[in-house]
Amino acid sequence: MTALIIAIDGPAASGKGTLGKQLAARYGLRHLDTGLIYRAVAKALLDAGHKPDDKPRAIAAAKQLDPAQFNETALKQLAIGEAASIVSAIAEVRTALLDFQRNFAATPPGAVLDGRDIGTVIAPDADVKIFVVASPKARAYRRFLELKERGDSVNETEILADILKRDERDRSRTAAPLVRAPDAHLLDTTHLDIDAAVRAAIAIVEAVRAG
Ligand code: DC
Repeated sequence: MTALIIAIDGPAASGKGTLGKQLAARYGLRHLDTGLIYRAVAKALLDAGHKPDDKPRAIAAAKQLDPAQFNETALKQLAIGEAASIVSAIAEVRTALLDFQRNFAATPPGAVLDGRDIGTVIAPDADVKIFVVASPKARAYRRFLELKERGDSVNETEILADILKRDERDRSRTAAPLVRAPDAHLLDTTHLDIDAAVRAAIAIVEAVRAG
Protein backbone atom coordinates (compact mmCIF):
# COMPACT_ATOMS: atom_id res chain seq x y z
CA MET A 1 0.00 0.00 0.00
CA THR A 2 1.40 3.37 -0.94
CA ALA A 3 1.13 6.58 1.03
CA LEU A 4 -0.63 9.74 -0.08
CA ILE A 5 1.35 12.73 1.16
CA ILE A 6 -0.05 16.24 1.31
CA ALA A 7 2.44 18.99 2.23
CA ILE A 8 1.15 22.28 3.58
CA ASP A 9 3.57 25.12 4.22
CA GLY A 10 3.14 28.76 5.08
CA PRO A 11 3.97 31.53 7.54
CA ALA A 12 2.81 31.77 11.16
CA ALA A 13 -0.94 31.63 11.80
CA SER A 14 -1.79 31.25 8.12
CA GLY A 15 -4.34 28.53 8.89
CA LYS A 16 -2.11 25.57 7.96
CA GLY A 17 -3.05 23.59 11.05
CA THR A 18 -6.79 23.86 10.53
CA LEU A 19 -6.46 23.02 6.84
CA GLY A 20 -4.17 20.12 7.67
CA LYS A 21 -6.63 18.62 10.16
CA GLN A 22 -9.58 18.97 7.81
CA LEU A 23 -7.78 17.57 4.77
CA ALA A 24 -6.54 14.61 6.84
CA ALA A 25 -10.10 13.87 7.99
CA ARG A 26 -11.45 14.21 4.47
CA TYR A 27 -8.90 11.82 2.90
CA GLY A 28 -8.53 9.36 5.81
CA LEU A 29 -4.91 10.36 6.45
CA ARG A 30 -2.98 11.08 9.64
CA HIS A 31 -2.02 14.66 10.42
CA LEU A 32 1.22 16.09 11.79
CA ASP A 33 1.52 19.73 12.83
CA THR A 34 5.30 19.91 12.61
CA GLY A 35 5.39 23.27 14.40
CA LEU A 36 4.53 21.33 17.57
CA ILE A 37 7.83 19.44 17.27
CA TYR A 38 9.90 22.63 17.33
CA ARG A 39 7.65 24.08 20.01
CA ALA A 40 8.23 20.98 22.17
CA VAL A 41 12.01 21.31 21.82
CA ALA A 42 11.74 25.00 22.77
CA LYS A 43 9.51 24.24 25.75
CA ALA A 44 11.86 21.55 27.02
CA LEU A 45 14.68 24.11 27.01
CA LEU A 46 12.67 26.88 28.63
CA ASP A 47 11.28 24.53 31.31
CA ALA A 48 14.83 23.50 32.22
CA GLY A 49 15.84 27.17 32.51
CA HIS A 50 17.91 27.30 29.32
CA LYS A 51 17.84 29.76 26.44
CA PRO A 52 16.36 28.68 23.09
CA ASP A 53 19.62 29.51 21.29
CA ASP A 54 21.63 27.15 23.53
CA LYS A 55 22.76 24.94 20.64
CA PRO A 56 24.12 21.81 22.41
CA ARG A 57 21.10 21.67 24.74
CA ALA A 58 18.67 22.29 21.87
CA ILE A 59 20.22 19.43 19.87
CA ALA A 60 20.07 17.12 22.92
CA ALA A 61 16.41 18.06 23.51
CA ALA A 62 15.57 17.38 19.85
CA LYS A 63 17.20 13.93 20.06
CA GLN A 64 15.21 13.06 23.19
CA LEU A 65 11.86 14.30 21.93
CA ASP A 66 8.81 12.11 22.52
CA PRO A 67 5.91 13.28 20.33
CA ALA A 68 3.54 11.00 22.29
CA GLN A 69 3.95 13.36 25.25
CA PHE A 70 2.95 16.58 23.44
CA ASN A 71 0.51 18.84 25.27
CA GLU A 72 -0.86 20.91 22.41
CA THR A 73 -2.49 23.57 24.60
CA ALA A 74 0.73 24.30 26.48
CA LEU A 75 2.77 24.26 23.28
CA LYS A 76 0.52 26.77 21.50
CA GLN A 77 1.40 29.65 23.84
CA LEU A 78 2.72 32.80 22.17
CA ALA A 79 6.11 32.76 23.94
CA ILE A 80 6.74 29.16 22.91
CA GLY A 81 6.20 30.08 19.24
CA GLU A 82 8.93 32.70 19.40
CA ALA A 83 11.34 30.30 21.14
CA ALA A 84 10.46 27.57 18.61
CA SER A 85 11.41 29.89 15.77
CA ILE A 86 14.83 30.35 17.42
CA VAL A 87 15.55 26.63 18.02
CA SER A 88 14.31 25.72 14.56
CA ALA A 89 17.04 27.82 12.94
CA ILE A 90 19.67 25.38 14.32
CA ALA A 91 20.50 22.99 11.46
CA GLU A 92 21.37 20.05 13.77
CA VAL A 93 18.02 20.38 15.55
CA ARG A 94 16.27 20.04 12.19
CA THR A 95 18.42 17.04 11.25
CA ALA A 96 17.57 15.29 14.52
CA LEU A 97 13.86 15.65 13.71
CA LEU A 98 14.00 14.66 10.05
CA ASP A 99 13.54 10.88 10.28
CA PHE A 100 10.53 11.10 12.57
CA GLN A 101 8.75 13.42 10.12
CA ARG A 102 9.68 11.40 7.03
CA ASN A 103 8.61 8.12 8.62
CA PHE A 104 5.35 9.69 9.71
CA ALA A 105 4.69 10.84 6.14
CA ALA A 106 5.64 7.56 4.48
CA THR A 107 3.58 5.26 6.72
CA PRO A 108 0.49 4.04 4.82
CA PRO A 109 -2.08 5.34 4.16
CA GLY A 110 -0.04 8.57 4.22
CA ALA A 111 -0.39 11.90 5.94
CA VAL A 112 -0.93 15.59 5.81
CA LEU A 113 2.03 17.46 7.27
CA ASP A 114 2.04 21.18 7.85
CA GLY A 115 5.01 23.41 8.59
CA ARG A 116 7.62 25.53 6.84
CA ASP A 117 9.79 23.03 4.94
CA ILE A 118 7.47 20.11 4.19
CA GLY A 119 7.30 20.58 0.42
CA THR A 120 10.96 21.58 0.14
CA VAL A 121 12.87 19.33 2.59
CA ILE A 122 10.73 16.80 4.47
CA ALA A 123 8.63 15.54 1.56
CA PRO A 124 9.93 17.04 -1.69
CA ASP A 125 8.08 14.28 -3.58
CA ALA A 126 4.74 14.92 -1.85
CA ASP A 127 1.72 14.14 -4.03
CA VAL A 128 0.19 17.56 -3.36
CA LYS A 129 1.87 20.72 -2.11
CA ILE A 130 -0.03 23.74 -0.89
CA PHE A 131 1.56 27.03 0.17
CA VAL A 132 -0.87 28.95 2.35
CA VAL A 133 -0.61 32.71 2.72
CA ALA A 134 -2.73 35.46 4.30
CA SER A 135 -2.04 39.09 5.10
CA PRO A 136 -0.19 39.64 8.40
CA LYS A 137 -3.21 41.55 9.75
CA ALA A 138 -5.64 38.74 8.97
CA ARG A 139 -3.28 36.20 10.53
CA ALA A 140 -2.80 38.29 13.67
CA TYR A 141 -6.55 38.71 14.09
CA ARG A 142 -7.18 34.96 13.76
CA ARG A 143 -4.44 34.10 16.25
CA PHE A 144 -5.83 36.78 18.61
CA LEU A 145 -9.30 35.17 18.55
CA GLU A 146 -7.80 31.70 19.03
CA LEU A 147 -5.70 32.71 22.05
CA LYS A 148 -8.54 34.78 23.54
CA GLU A 149 -10.90 31.83 23.28
CA ARG A 150 -8.39 29.81 25.27
CA GLY A 151 -8.38 32.46 27.98
CA ASP A 152 -4.90 33.85 27.29
CA SER A 153 -4.50 37.58 27.92
CA VAL A 154 -3.00 38.84 24.68
CA ASN A 155 -3.30 41.92 22.53
CA GLU A 156 -3.48 42.05 18.78
CA THR A 157 -0.59 44.49 18.33
CA GLU A 158 1.70 42.17 20.28
CA ILE A 159 0.59 39.19 18.18
CA LEU A 160 1.14 41.06 14.91
CA ALA A 161 4.66 42.03 16.04
CA ASP A 162 5.38 38.41 17.00
CA ILE A 163 4.14 37.11 13.65
CA LEU A 164 6.20 39.60 11.62
CA LYS A 165 9.33 38.86 13.64
CA ARG A 166 8.92 35.09 13.32
CA ASP A 167 8.17 35.29 9.58
CA GLU A 168 11.33 37.29 9.03
CA ARG A 169 13.46 34.84 11.06
CA ASP A 170 11.87 31.74 9.48
CA ARG A 171 12.37 33.14 5.95
CA SER A 172 15.91 34.39 6.32
CA ARG A 173 17.55 31.45 8.13
CA THR A 174 20.03 29.26 6.25
CA ALA A 175 18.62 25.91 7.43
CA ALA A 176 15.45 25.00 5.54
CA PRO A 177 14.02 28.53 5.29
CA LEU A 178 10.33 29.14 4.74
CA VAL A 179 10.00 29.29 0.97
CA ARG A 180 7.36 28.21 -1.51
CA ALA A 181 8.37 25.07 -3.41
CA PRO A 182 8.23 25.76 -7.16
CA ASP A 183 5.52 23.09 -7.56
CA ALA A 184 3.40 24.22 -4.58
CA HIS A 185 -0.09 25.59 -5.23
CA LEU A 186 -0.63 29.00 -3.70
CA LEU A 187 -3.70 29.40 -1.47
CA ASP A 188 -4.40 32.93 -0.22
CA THR A 189 -6.86 32.75 2.69
CA THR A 190 -6.90 36.48 3.53
CA HIS A 191 -10.52 36.85 2.47
CA LEU A 192 -11.68 33.28 3.12
CA ASP A 193 -13.37 31.89 6.21
CA ILE A 194 -12.41 28.38 7.39
CA ASP A 195 -15.03 26.57 5.30
CA ALA A 196 -14.11 28.45 2.13
CA ALA A 197 -10.39 27.85 2.73
CA VAL A 198 -11.00 24.12 3.23
CA ARG A 199 -13.08 23.98 0.03
CA ALA A 200 -10.30 25.74 -1.87
CA ALA A 201 -7.70 23.31 -0.48
CA ILE A 202 -9.85 20.31 -1.43
CA ALA A 203 -10.24 21.75 -4.93
CA ILE A 204 -6.44 21.90 -5.23
CA VAL A 205 -6.05 18.29 -4.05
CA GLU A 206 -8.76 17.08 -6.43
CA ALA A 207 -7.29 18.96 -9.39
CA VAL A 208 -3.82 17.53 -8.74
CA ARG A 209 -5.13 13.98 -8.29
CA ALA A 210 -7.17 14.24 -11.47
CA GLY A 211 -3.93 15.08 -13.22
O1 DC B 1 3.72 26.63 12.82
P1 DC B 1 4.12 27.10 14.24
O2 DC B 1 3.77 28.55 14.49
O3 DC B 1 3.59 26.21 15.30
O4 DC B 1 5.72 26.98 14.24
C1 DC B 1 6.52 27.44 15.32
C2 DC B 1 7.94 27.69 14.81
O5 DC B 1 8.55 26.44 14.47
C3 DC B 1 8.04 28.53 13.55
O6 DC B 1 8.17 29.91 13.85
C4 DC B 1 9.22 27.98 12.83
C5 DC B 1 9.35 26.57 13.32
N1 DC B 1 8.96 25.56 12.33
C6 DC B 1 9.91 25.18 11.40
O7 DC B 1 11.00 25.75 11.38
N2 DC B 1 9.66 24.20 10.52
C7 DC B 1 8.48 23.58 10.49
N3 DC B 1 8.26 22.60 9.60
C8 DC B 1 7.46 23.97 11.41
C9 DC B 1 7.74 24.98 12.32
